[in-house]
Formats: sequence, C-alpha cells, structure tokens
Amino acid sequence: MFSKKLDKSTAVTDGTAWELTRIPVIDSDQLLSIKFNSSKTDDSSCIAFLILSHENELIDSSIPICESLKEYVLKTKNEKKDSIFECDLHKLYWAWTDEKSICDNNNLMELAYKFSAYLRKHEAKVESLSVFIDLVTSSAPFMTFLSRLFFESYISTLYKSEQKEVNFPKIISFSASRLTISEKDSIEILETAKKLALASIRMKNLVEAPPNVCHCEKFLDYVKKEVPKYKNLYLTYCDENQCLDAGMGAFYSVSRASEHGGRLIHITYKSGNPTTKIGLVGKGITMDTGGYSLKSCESIMTMKYDMTGAALVTSTILAIASLEIKDIEVHAVALLTANAINEKATFPGSIVKAYNGKTIEILNTDAEGRLVLADGLTYLSNVFENSPNSYIIDVATLTGAMAICLGTEIAGLFTNSDKLTSFLYQASKDSGENIFRMPLHEKYKSLIKSKIADLSNIANSKPNASSMTAALFLQEFVGDKIHWAHLDIAGVSWRGSKAEAKAWGILLLYKAVLELSGTKQ
Ligand code: BES
Ligand code: MG
Ligand code: ZN
Repeated sequence: MFSKKLDKSTAVTDGTAWELTRIPVIDSDQLLSIKFNSSKTDDSSCIAFLILSHENELIDSSIPICESLKEYVLKTKNEKKDSIFECDLHKLYWAWTDEKSICDNNNLMELAYKFSAYLRKHEAKVESLSVFIDLVTSSAPFMTFLSRLFFESYISTLYKSEQKEVNFPKIISFSASRLTISEKDSIEILETAKKLALASIRMKNLVEAPPNVCHCEKFLDYVKKEVPKYKNLYLTYCDENQCLDAGMGAFYSVSRASEHGGRLIHITYKSGNPTTKIGLVGKGITMDTGGYSLKSCESIMTMKYDMTGAALVTSTILAIASLEIKDIEVHAVALLTANAINEKATFPGSIVKAYNGKTIEILNTDAEGRLVLADGLTYLSNVFENSPNSYIIDVATLTGAMAICLGTEIAGLFTNSDKLTSFLYQASKDSGENIFRMPLHEKYKSLIKSKIADLSNIANSKPNASSMTAALFLQEFVGDKIHWAHLDIAGVSWRGSKAEAKAWGILLLYKAVLELSGTKQ
C-alpha cells in the first residue's frame, strides 16, 4: 500500500509519545549574579536596562544611563508611557515614567509581560539586564516582578518539529533607591521567584497540552513521577469506577463516556505543626466537547484549557513542596476527565446521585464542571470533617458568562466567608492577579431547583445569572462550617490572541495559602 515503508521515527502517532511538559532549568549563576542594592552600580557593561521611575527621579538619580536616553525619556514622556529606545552604547532600554502608582503589583506584572514580549518578538538574547525600580518601598513586588519576568521569557516549542532553547534574562543588578534588601532576603526572594516561575511554566505546559496528549491517565502518570521528588508530599488517587463505588455519581456521569475514564487525584503537603487545613480543588476537564449538549465549532476549539483548574492546584502544591514551606497542611484535589461523547455518554435528562447524597437532574451535559467539582468538594469537606478551622478554594473555568462579566483580567470570587475574602483580596494585591467578589444570593437558589430531583445542573429560567447559579450549585456540596471560595477563572486563563495559557493564579494561590496558614513571607 505504501510506496515507501515507514520506519518508527517517521511514523504518524496519535500523539501519545509527546511529553506532557518539559521544565527548563534556570541556571544558578543567573541567580547568583543578581544583586539588590540601593547604591549606584557601574553597569556600563550591561546591554539592557529596565527602568521604573518618575522622570524627575530619573534625571536626579544615580542610575547610570547615558544622557541621550534621559533626553529621549523626557522628550517622549507625554506621548508614550513606556517606550523602547536603543543607542550606541546599550542595545536596549526600556523606560517607564508613569507618574501613577508604579510599584503597584498589577503594573509590575504587566510591565514584565510587555518587556518579555518585546524580547521575544525581537528574539533578543539578554545576557545582562539591570532593573531600576525607584518607587518600590517593600520587597514583595520584586518577587512578583522577577517571577513574571522569568515566566514570560519562556516560549514553548514542545509541539514544533524544531525545539528552541529558552533564554532567561540574566539579571545583574536590581536597584531600589528607597529600599535596602539584605543579602539573605534577596537570595530568598530570588529562590521563590524562580520556583514560582517554574511552577507557572509547568502549569502552562499542562494546560497547553493538546487533548490527545493530555488525558487523565497521562496527567496522573506525570503526578506520580513528580510527587516522590519532594519531601512531605503524599499522593492518593482513584479511577472513575472506584469513584462510582464510593458514591460519586456526579463525577462518574461526566467521565463515563471518556476513553480513559476519570481520575480523582489527591496530593497532600504537610510539614511541621500546621494550625489550619487548606484545600485547593481544581476542575480538570481535559477536553470539554459539551457531551450531547454539544458545543459549537467555534467554542469547542480551545476547550483543552478546561483543565486549567487542575493544572493550577497541582502546580501550586508542587511549588509549595519545592519551597519546603514550614508548618502548613495543604491538600490539592484535581478531578480529571474528558467531557466526551460515545454510546455510554450521559443523556440530558438523566438523574444521578452525588457523593453527599443529593440528586441532580442533568439537563445540560455541557454544565459538567459543577458535576465533577460537586463530588470533589464533598470529598475534601469529608477529609476536613467539616471543621470550621479549614478553608477550601476551588478554581474552575466554569462559565463562559464570567468572561462576559469581568473580562480577561479579573476572576470572579464567590464565597461564604468574609474572612477568606480578606485573605484572598490581600493575596490578590500582593500578586497582581485580580479578583472581584461577586454575590452568592440566596434568592437565586430557586433557579437551580429541579422539579423531580433535588437540584438541576442548569438554571430553570432566564435570565439566569449563569456564573452565580453555578457557584450556588457548588455551595450545595461544601461542608457548611468550612470557609469556602470559588474562583471562576474562565475569563483569565487563556490568551486567545496567542493561543496560549496565561498560567494565571500561581502567585495568587501561593500567597493566599501562606497567609491563611500564618506563614511569614
Ligand atoms: N468549560 C465551560 C465554560 C467555559 C466557556 C470556559 C468558555 C472557558 C471559556 C463550561 O463547562 C460550560 O460549558 N459552561 C456552560 C454552562 C451552561 C451550559 C449553563 C456555559 O458557560 O455556557
Ligand atoms: Mg461545559
Ligand atoms: Zn467545562
């Protein structure tokens, strides 16, 4: 049949030979060469500068940049807030002279993104970089900024026939005229920034893995390989049949039509003497076709990223373990399966029993996220014995309406706890990853009542407050004494223009977990 016999290396595969992720190495000399200081440094050998400063400070300060750059910044300050400039001596400059709150973490995140995007676009290899942040008065933003800078320097070529090396910028100095950071603290900041950047890269690779490569079995294999690399980390898991035997009819109803079934993955990190228990639950739909309530050609295309929640909780707990955080107990539960169609697929109108005994009429098989999360939330509530000293945060690309409501820069927060809200808002401020608290209104509970079962998985009339009714549905499966928050990350997870995962949430969850457990940062 074939004119030429195919050998193994050229044979077409179904993709399963691909690696799920490949984490690059950030060389240690890259880290060691970084110095934080408040005094003038001689950086004439530096090829790139990143400057965050008021224009007047820029002119007066000890920043060792050439006069022509200063002139350029002053000349263009009214036209462009951030601009790139090249001169004979130095190949590249980036200047930012915005008068407003420059040290705001959100601005820093954006700047790190823009700067890296510039480097990527020009394929600039930055051998040495000096960063001047005059306006920062605390050390936290450095970590955020560095972590993002490293992360954004990463380009995935996993699915190209030609692999490219990753060029992380080599930063030789940090200058902050209003801040002195001790040698010890600076090493810690760098180490944290690096580990969180690698966690973000891990998450990005997992999310971007195509649906024929990243199925639940492969995801579990990967976790099995990673967990033993770290101290104080434990893994338990079960497949969809074991879940059904345990009574998880909601999770099973989604996974039953999938070639690889489903997996509930539970990773625990416990060190020292923790005072609280913290749980992270992630939606892990490796591909959401919608099931019989089939999605349109347009909306189905990117649905491999419906497992962002699972990638986020897994990458966060691995980062916490790699940083060997003391005296905390964190649980990550990921519900993995595809929402597929075959002859076993759940029919719309089916009624199933969830793990907590409540019955659900599945009127729309595309509202599958809340079904898998329902059993995950009950599972973790049971592990925590409904203790008021425990916190559960679930993260899920749950509703398209979330993106319509808050766009691509802000995630929706739905919660039963003011206390957890204040922790999350603080973490959001520290990380520059935005959240906004949405209502969980009792009145709307009637919308998710079913005529013949306890609950319906979609609202029974329109307009239906889609994101809120989904959150109200989830609340039915959380222990009533537990501080619980649901983050709908459907809008913030994906950068459509570049078809890439943003790895949104690693810094936010990391900060939140540390604050909740009272760990000094
Ligand atoms: N995974 C989708 C939500 C989604 C949509 C995430 C677009 C990211 C981008 C979810 O499973 C879904 O299909 N939700 C439905 C719920 C509806 C049927 C009640 C939706 O939002 O349309
Ligand atoms: Mg769906
Ligand atoms: Zn989905």
